[in-house]
Amino acid sequence: MVALDLPDASAALAMRDLLGDRVGWFKIGLRLFVSAGPDLLRRIGATHRVFLDLKFHDIPNTVAQAVESAGNLGVSMVNVHAAGGASMLAAAKEASSQFPAMKLIAVTILTSDAMDQAAARELAVARAEMGRVAGLDGVVCSVHEVAAIHAACGADFLTVTPGIRLLGQDVQDQQRVADPAGAIAQGADYLVVGRPIIQAENPAAMAGVILQQMRGL
Ligand code: C5P
Repeated sequence: MVALDLPDASAALAMRDLLGDRVGWFKIGLRLFVSAGPDLLRRIGATHRVFLDLKFHDIPNTVAQAVESAGNLGVSMVNVHAAGGASMLAAAKEASSQFPAMKLIAVTILTSDAMDQAAARELAVARAEMGRVAGLDGVVCSVHEVAAIHAACGADFLTVTPGIRLLGQDVQDQQRVADPAGAIAQGADYLVVGRPIIQAENPAAMAGVILQQMRGL
């Protein structure tokens, strides 16, 4: 999943066209959705699957309504923040049930959080279990928590992992990072990659390198 953290619709569409079918999914997050909104989302959705990453975190009723709006946009994945609690997750799940093709996942802890690794794993597993009980499809977590989450919630419970960097690459504001081969080795189901691709001199070539590493080449 390539994170289209770009300023506007024209930059996002240019990146979509540059990467083409090397990439199956695009992630549309706060920056792009706030600037370009549903219209751009539909245009990206015409060629690729879209993960709408707005990390809804509000009272249950508001989050449920936002999840319903995401479903009406036709996105393939949407997320809420697990810190919103069990009743919020349950309300989100009820709203998403009208859209069986849309995956609903919960953010456990931001990969930029410098929390101690053992504490992060414990909290991420607890939040993932809360998501599983509420009927969600999976979580966003760091690669370092993937194995523990699969052990606790089952191999089918999806793990979506940002914080991906090539070995030796600048981690920027991320903290709990891993390289593409390491993420696959840990059992991550989806890798989210933003700046390493969208800020590369040659984004298509960089996507190719990351895909090769994911395949263990
Ligand atoms: O540029 P970079 O590869 O660090 O981008 C990671 C993307 O994943 C960003 O769009 C960020 O908002 C998102 N994300 C994250 N950590 C989470 C959830 C989402 O980094 N826990």
